[in-house]
Formats: sequence, C-alpha cells, structure tokens
Amino acid sequence: MTVIVTGGAGYIGAHIVRLLAARGDEVVVVDDLSAGRAERVGDARLEVADLAADSTVERLAALFVEVGARAVIHLAARKRVDESVARPTWYYRQNVGGLAHVLEAMEQADVPSLVFSSSAAVYGAPGSALVTEASPTVPMNPYGETKLAGEWLVRDAARAWGLACLSLRYFNVAGAGWDDLHDPAAQNLVPLVLRRLRAGLPPLVFGSDHPTPDGTCVRDYVHVLDLAHAHVAALDHVAAPADVAGAARDAEGPPADHVLNIGTGVGSSVLEVLDAFAVATGVPVVPELLGRRVGDPPQVVAAVDRAVDVLGWRAERDLADIVRSTVRAELAAR
Ligand code: WQD
Repeated sequence: MTVIVTGGAGYIGAHIVRLLAARGDEVVVVDDLSAGRAERVGDARLEVADLAADSTVERLAALFVEVGARAVIHLAARKRVDESVARPTWYYRQNVGGLAHVLEAMEQADVPSLVFSSSAAVYGAPGSALVTEASPTVPMNPYGETKLAGEWLVRDAARAWGLACLSLRYFNVAGAGWDDLHDPAAQNLVPLVLRRLRAGLPPLVFGSDHPTPDGTCVRDYVHVLDLAHAHVAALDHVAAPADVAGAARDAEGPPADHVLNIGTGVGSSVLEVLDAFAVATGVPVVPELLGRRVGDPPQVVAAVDRAVDVLGWRAERDLADIVRSTVRAELAAR
C-alpha cells in the first residue's frame, strides 16, 4: 500500500515511516523540515512542502495521484504550548489550515483514509483519574484547541464525503525506538531531565504540592515505538476494504466516535520519572524543587480500553523502557 506520512521527518513520524517501510509499504514523506531532518526518512521519498501555503493543495493532490496514495497519516503540525499561546493565529493557520489543505487534496485525489495526530491536550485539566474518549474536551491553550478543531474537521470530512478516519490522542510520548531517531532537543520532561543530568545540573521539578500521591504531576508516558505501532494498526483499520471498515465503523457508532486515546493506562509522577533515570544511569538523581508551572493539570492518564477494542493495540513498553532507551540513544549519539 502507498502511504503518505506528513511530518514523517519528525521524531514520531520517522518511527512510523521506519515501521511501514520494514513491512513493505511504499512510503512518501511530506515535511517542511522545520523540525524534521531529511536523514531520518531513510529510503522513503521526501517532498519538502509547507502545508499551510494555499498552493500546496494542488501540489499535494498531484502527488497523491502520481504515487497512487491509499492513505495519509497526518502528523505535520506545530506542537509547542508556550509558542501557541504567544502566536495563536499562526498556530491555527499551521495546524488547522495545514490539515484543511491535506483534506482538500485527499478529496480531489480520491484518497479514502486518514489517521490524524491528535493530543491529550484536548482534555485540558481532566476531572477524573482516568480520561476516556468521552471525557469533556476543554483544551487549555491554542495548541490543544487546534488539535480539537482538527478532530472536528476530520469528523466533518468523514460525514461529508465518507473519509475513513481515526484521530489518535497521544498522551506523553517519549523514548527512542532506534537510537538515530531520538529527539534530544524536545522540550518535554524526559529529554529535559537528560539534558540537565548531562550538564551536571539537578533536574527541575515544577510543583511538589499538587493533589497527587507524592505531590508532583502524574502523566501517562507512552513509548514512541508503541505509539508508532498504534499508527500502523490505525492505518490498517481505516484502510481496510470498504465493507470491513464500514462494518467496523457501524459497530462503533457514528464517525464522531473516531477518536482513540493512545497511552499506557499507567500514571507516573515526575519523581517516579527521576527514579527511573537513577536506575537507568546507576547515579542518584537529586532534583531541584520549584513552584508549579502555570496551567499544569495534576494528573492526565489515559483509559486505553477503546484502543484495545478497536485496534487490538496495547502499549508493550513501560517507563523504565522509555528512560533506558532515551539514555541509550543519547550515549550512542556522543
Ligand atoms: C510533564 C510533567 C511538568 C519539565 C505537553 C503538552 C501536551 C503534549 C506533550 C505535544 C509536567 C513536569 C516538566 C521539567 C517538570 N504536547 N516537568 N520539570 O505538559 O504533560 O504535556 O507535552 O506535543 O499537549 O501540554 O508535558 O513533558 O512538558 O511535562 O517537573 O523540567 O513534567 O510540570 O507535570 P505536558 P511535559
């Protein structure tokens, strides 16, 4: 099958591209290389394109026809919460506008199936211990809003012209499936801790008085390789022959039910993440405790039953695997 992966030169996208190529799919990557790196895509064809530009629709539609694309995995997006607060119009243009262009090109070129990269950011600060796909969606920043608007747009395309689609709500993605695909520059807890440790500095803990068992925030850390496998399963689900996919969709209800949580179902506190670093490195980790970060929800952990039911997918790796693979990839890069 020929699959388009937008954002395929990025950290998550490159893991997906490598899995798809390994099983023999024809992969075409579309990426603007703003955060992605060409060497990550291996032998896959790479089209460098800015999805937010209006002229991109025509170019993408022609590309989709030329390569006989059967599905798109759309990851290309901006993902920094602080930047989205500072530049909301740009975030909407990039994330929602970019998706609209991809959908227009898919409709023109008759590409029938899509897997969309969404985020647990659509939930904001959940009021329950575990979030299900039916939990309220109240994003707390423009980044999360663009992901929620993206889900609506995908759902509306499904209703309007029968697009087969799934939106995957990622929880906290980290780790490395292959050392060369590790993302050392990411602004998230796991890579930040590693950078502080390598610089001989104590890792920072934002808030130790949250209403959680040890006072630090609890998140659901999912290994990037598990996440990549979830995309492959989602692709096979949406790209199944119409009768199979249709039956599966009917069984699940209307297309509004096209969202799936992708996490482990297990919460880890910031201090537990630091403990995992101490185990992985064999060196005690002494944190520096700071005040709470503005807008940090105390706990965000996925209920994962729906992904198991719909995709037959479940995360196989745990926090120790995530931290071990991150440390290993960093050492390999030296
Ligand atoms: C995790 C926890 C911090 C750094 C964000 C986005 C989300 C998604 C992933 C996607 C929090 C704490 C962090 C540090 C710390 N976006 N922390 N010390 O905020 O859960 O999710 O990234 O692309 O939409 O909101 O992830 O990794 O920033 O933080 O104590 O040096 O670690 O307070 O509790 P977050 P994170």
